[in-house]
This record gives sequence, C-alpha cells and structure tokens, in this order.
Amino acid sequence: MTKQRFLITSALPYINGIKHLGNLAGSMLPADVHARFRRLQGHEVLFLCATDEHGTPAELAAAEAGQTVEQYCLEQHEIQKAAGEGFNLSFDHFGRSSSLENRELTQHFAERLEENGLLEERVSKQIYSIDDKRFLPDRYVEGTCPKCGYDSARGDQCDSCGTLLDPLDLINPRSKVSGSTNVEPRDTAHLFLRQPLMENEIRAWVDAAKDWPHLAKSIAYKWLDEGLQDRAITRDLKWGVPVAKNGVSRPGFEDKVFYVWFDAPIEYIGAAQEWAKKNGENWERWWRKDKGADDVIYVEFMGKDNVAFHTVSFPITLLGSKEPWKLVDRLKAFNWVTWYGGKFSTSQKRGIFMDKALELMAGDYWRWYLMANAPESSDAAFTLEGFQAAVNSDLANVFGNFVNRITKFANSKFDATIPEGGAHGELESDLIKAISEKLAEITKYHEEMEFRKAAAETRALWVLGNEYLQTKAPWTLFKTDLEASATGVRIGLNLVALFAIAALPFVPATATRVLDALGVPSEKRVWTDGEGWLEILPAGHKFEVPDLLFQKIEDEQVAEWAAMFGGAE
Ligand code: MF3
Ligand code: ZN
Repeated sequence: MTKQRFLITSALPYINGIKHLGNLAGSMLPADVHARFRRLQGHEVLFLCATDEHGTPAELAAAEAGQTVEQYCLEQHEIQKAAGEGFNLSFDHFGRSSSLENRELTQHFAERLEENGLLEERVSKQIYSIDDKRFLPDRYVEGTCPKCGYDSARGDQCDSCGTLLDPLDLINPRSKVSGSTNVEPRDTAHLFLRQPLMENEIRAWVDAAKDWPHLAKSIAYKWLDEGLQDRAITRDLKWGVPVAKNGVSRPGFEDKVFYVWFDAPIEYIGAAQEWAKKNGENWERWWRKDKGADDVIYVEFMGKDNVAFHTVSFPITLLGSKEPWKLVDRLKAFNWVTWYGGKFSTSQKRGIFMDKALELMAGDYWRWYLMANAPESSDAAFTLEGFQAAVNSDLANVFGNFVNRITKFANSKFDATIPEGGAHGELESDLIKAISEKLAEITKYHEEMEFRKAAAETRALWVLGNEYLQTKAPWTLFKTDLEASATGVRIGLNLVALFAIAALPFVPATATRVLDALGVPSEKRVWTDGEGWLEILPAGHKFEVPDLLFQKIEDEQVAEWAAMFGGAE
C-alpha cells in the first residue's frame, strides 16, 4: 500500500468548562480513532486539536469564576488537556487559540483579505455603556424582549420566546457588565468580510468536493442557496486577537478584537505551528501546497452545527487570502449524543462530563460505547443501561473472555510458550478465510469513517475467535491429540494478538496492555487486511497472561450513577 499523509483535526472544544461525553463522541474521539487507524496502516499522521479560547462566553465565565480571563483560560486549557489524556486522545499537539502563532496568523489573514478587497470597514449603531466606558457586544446587553415582554432577554436572543434579536431592539436595555441602564446607541466601526464576492469560488469548490458525506454537502449548499451575507468579523471585547498590524492597532479599533469564529479555525494552522516550534518540525509541509502539502489528505471531524463554518466561512478565509493553503478534503460530521433523549446540562446535573466519567471508569470503556453507538445517521441516546450492556457483553464477555481463556490455558499447559503445532484442517482454513473477510470489512469501514459499523465488525471479528475455540476445544484435545491441541493454542494466541491490534483504535490502553503481555514487538503492531497474522507470535515465543481486561459493570453501579447524574425517569 502506498504511504500517504493525513492531516486530521477535531473541532476545537470551547474553553468555558469541561466537555460532556456527547461533545467527546462528536469530534475528538472519532478523530482519534481515525488517527490511530491511519497510523497503524503506516501512514504519516498529524493530529491536531486545541482549546477555542476567545469570545464573550470565555469573558463571562471568567468573570463568574472571579478570575482574569487569562488565568481562567490557562486553567481550563490544562483541565481539558488532562481529560483528553485520560481518554487517550493521541493528539500530536493540543494547542490554544490564544497562542501567539494564532494571533499572527489571524492578523495575517485579515491583512490578505483586505488587500484582496474582501474586507470593508463599516459604521453602524451599537449600544454604548457610559458607565462601563465601552461598547457592549450582543451578549453583554440585557433588556425586555419586544416580542414577549420577558425582562431578561439577551442582546442576541430571547431565552423565553426564542426570537433572535438585535441589542437595539431591546426595551430598557442595560449593561450585563455593571447592570447600568445608562446606555445609548452610538456609531462605531467594524470590519465586514464580503462573503458574497467569494460565492462562486466557494460553490465551485463545494461542487468539486468528492469525499464529503451528504450531511456536509447539503448544509454547505443550504448556506450557498440562501445567499452569503457580509459578516462582521470584529467585536467590542478585550479578550481576543487585536485588530492590529505589527503591534499597532487599526485606528478606531483599539478596543476591538477579531470575532472568535474568525480566529478559531485559523488555530488549526496555529496548532501546527505550535507543534512544529515545540518539536523542531516543519508545519508548512502540512499546510502550504507550495511547500509540500499538495499531497496531504486533510480530514476534519465536527458536530453538525459546525459544518457551515468549515465548508463555507473558513474556506472563504483561506481561498480569499489567494495564498496556496491546504483545504479540507474529507469531512465527517456528527449528530448529537443525548442524555436519555434530553440535553446534557451541568446545572441540572444531567449527564456525565469528561472529568467525572474518568473517575467512574477508565477511558477505554467510554470510548467503546460511544463509538459503537456513534451519532452517525441520527442522534444517539446515551444510557447507562446501554453502556453497561456494551461493556459487559462486547468488551468483557466477547473480547475479554476470549483472551482470558486461551492465555490461561496456554500458560498452564504449554508453559506460557507458543507451541509448535500440527497441520491446519478444514476448520482452520475456514477460520482464516472468515478472518480475512472480516478484516477487509473493518478496514473499509474505518477508511470510510463509519465508526458504528467498524465497531460492530470488530466485535464480529472477536466472535469468530470464540467460535473457533469453542469448536476446536484445545482443552479437550489436550488429552487425546496433543498436536491438534497445540494447533488450536497457537492459532488462539495469534488471534489474541490480532484482536488486540484490531482493537487499538477503539480501546488503545487495554489493547496495548494485551500486546505488551504477549510481547508483540512494535514492528508487528501494524494493521493487517488478513496477511501474516498467523505469524505474529512464532512457535517458541514466551508470553505472559495479561491481567483481567475489563471489569463488568454491576446493576448497583448503574443505579448509583443514575442517582448521581440523572438516569431513566
Ligand atoms: N468551539 C467551537 C464549538 O464548540 C468549535 C470551533 S471549531 C473551529 O462549536 F473551527 F473553530 F476551530
Ligand atoms: Zn421574548
């Protein structure tokens, strides 16, 4: 197989608090599974993520926590980074959109867009708070909803009746910063990205995209068909990328920064630069088509609410620069994971968040369930009962028992050594054929990024091993036909190695533990389509019995967790 290069990114988790299991399942986790699979295939992979740190919600959350926004973001970044490590997310770099690299890149893109006639400075009316001495961005204004009369409507939307609002629509507006009602509309300038000028170019690019799923294409076309709008890319905030060039503010923009959705995706490039700087690597060969990135396959993972930003807005930034940046080739979008059909909510104690999950069970358990039930064709409900069933059946009974049974038997009867074996019979040739077919299917589903199917077929692969051992019964043969028993044991142990390799994308920590115990050398920990697996462990090789692979989840645990996090009503 020809070796390729994969640039893989996951949507950047927003900084304002630890993410829940649904967020994990909708971008970071599948991106990791894919990155691991591509590495196992022998491809070169650069897997990037970062915290998305700018914008009003970060400022508000920091104020609520009584911290400076810098402190808050640093702390939350570390928390999210640690949670990612707990789930074994194998990022080559987990960066920060507040990095110096991203600041410079963001300013660079704005400059290029302006040179190309795609930016326009425009004056409009906005709420100014006299007591706070500042313009208030949408979410910093509160007041009475002109539609329903709710008295705490936000400047961007009324939470009571759902109407989208402009802060100027609010009756009796007040500042959310100080509560002051001493506010008035004043003229102020913002930079607008003239997206309609790029419409034809974007449409042609979307038309040409071959490897996008239906969901992504239809969202992109919906936006294009509705007609692109000029979009304000600056905001009246302190926390963000300054609207400046070489450290000098643009006149009139001293108290403004770029809009968070303008700078966030640029951090995909920023993260590559951060990674390169830290490791003495070259980022341009991943991102610049004129510097070797031409043959990179760029794969993006995200929730469906992010699709428009990745198929229209960010590409406008990249193409509008008229520089040879790499654009997304494949894109995988997910629906939502719900908590028993409802929303995850910290305040209402509904659902499990990444940090709490790791206190209950190791990352692999969650990884398996979330990917076996990935929200691919529709939303998927997380239930503790479903989690328990998947863990106990797939992981403990099917994979775990197989490994346990054959390694224990071989340890006691064959001195923890792979035996020389007798000839293969029909049973073996059937098995070998079935395994090859199954591996080909799993490979195909991983390549197509069909995670549910890849997980289901991985389970089916493990089942083939159980069926073989059940029929072969080396423990019975041991008394009557030692040669045949040895064949079963040698094949069984090689299946353990193969099953663990196939499990690496989904349950990397456990699978690695199995491979370590078996003593599988690193050059043999590679993806196979069916070739060579019978020789992973040669006759004479010594191994150790791995510790129990998976704990079963008891009914009492499910009841306890349901009480803690809200379960079935
Ligand atoms: N933080 C955004 C969200 O949570 C995703 C940002 S992805 C990027 O929806 F493209 F902007 F980086
Ligand atoms: Zn209302």
